[in-house]
Amino acid sequence: MSGQLAMFYPDQVNLNVLKQRAYNHRWAEVPDGVIPLTAADPDLPCAPAISEAIIRYTKDRYFSYGPPQGLPFFREAVASQYEEKRKVRVDPSLVMAVDTAAYGIYLTCQTLLNKNDEAIIFNPVDFLFRYGIEAVGAKAIPYSIPQSPGNIDMESLEQLVSPNCKLLCLCNPLNPTGKVFTPAELQVFVDLAEKYDLHILSDEIWSDIVFAPASYTSIASISEAAYRRTIIVNGFSKSYGLAGLRIGSIIAPSQDIYERLLAISRHESTVHGANTLGQVAATAALNEGQDWLREFIDHLHEMRGLTVDRLNALPGITCLPPDGCYLAFANVSGTGMTSEALQVRILEEAKVMIVPGLDRWFGDGAKDHVRISFATSSEVLNEAFNRIASIL
Ligand SMILES: Cc1ncc(COP(=O)(O)O)c(C=O)c1O
Repeated sequence: MSGQLAMFYPDQVNLNVLKQRAYNHRWAEVPDGVIPLTAADPDLPCAPAISEAIIRYTKDRYFSYGPPQGLPFFREAVASQYEEKRKVRVDPSLVMAVDTAAYGIYLTCQTLLNKNDEAIIFNPVDFLFRYGIEAVGAKAIPYSIPQSPGNIDMESLEQLVSPNCKLLCLCNPLNPTGKVFTPAELQVFVDLAEKYDLHILSDEIWSDIVFAPASYTSIASISEAAYRRTIIVNGFSKSYGLAGLRIGSIIAPSQDIYERLLAISRHESTVHGANTLGQVAATAALNEGQDWLREFIDHLHEMRGLTVDRLNALPGITCLPPDGCYLAFANVSGTGMTSEALQVRILEEAKVMIVPGLDRWFGDGAKDHVRISFATSSEVLNEAFNRIASIL
């Protein structure tokens, strides 16, 4: 069966392989019998077209050094994907291959911030933003984003902008709440950035995982002014299941910023750099994996319904359906337990691992919440929720 024809099958979760290979709080790290609905990494195998592309590439038995900026076909694939899907015209010469979106965030902070600068992050949000900002000796300024829909309030956001503020960090869709920002909300960020001359770091790693009727807008597509300020970071761990291949991309808005990112990346000295196999896989994902991706999103849409229904049926727990990300962000305040105490109880008694809303993972905006990844099969989810229901 050719790569293009081999589609997505939701019952393909292979626990035997996952137990050997899935680390980072997942199957290979948890004790036998525990179901980890933890780190956002799918249980489903990747698109067949990706593994076929890797096999084709390995047949020649050459794994030579790649260029510091990334392989030309990878940079072109990222650029054309942005033009087709996101309506952002990207020159491939401004695309850089990096070893993960996590490094893309870190590198952008290293490049655009100095010690004692400030950068606005969302609250709650994935810890990687604070990590990147604090690694430079700069300060992260959290801006609370409510989970429920509602426009961004320019006034309260503006109050956070000091003369030291240099960067606005967007995570869209937002991990952990799944919020997908509307064009009107993005316009508020652009106006603020224009007014105070801020750069925008737009982490778009979740941008494919959006559930209709919600739809995704890249902030760089809002206007020419927005594009000129925005550094787009992307990755292949969420949409394509390639976390272990350590591959991501950065799109710079100008040659000047590109050169600065490249200089600071240490790619040219070969101290760092994106591996070529990751780039081959990511290129196949972009060029040949789109039908598979559509089916994956349909499956996730179903799993979202299952997860939200089962969470809302539990005593003291409420959960809104997320518009994006395959993450349920459930309020557990009605259980009378802290999210950490509940997480420990569910792990010990139900043998299911979930993520507590701790400050160190997401900021204090995740208090009273837990995060649950639903990128798995209905069998795994139902087994996990049957166990949780039996102890609560
Ligand atoms: C918002 C966000 N950015 C970046 C990453 C990291 O992605 P990568 O595996 O490419 O480093 C994650 C992973 O959870 C994420 O949720």
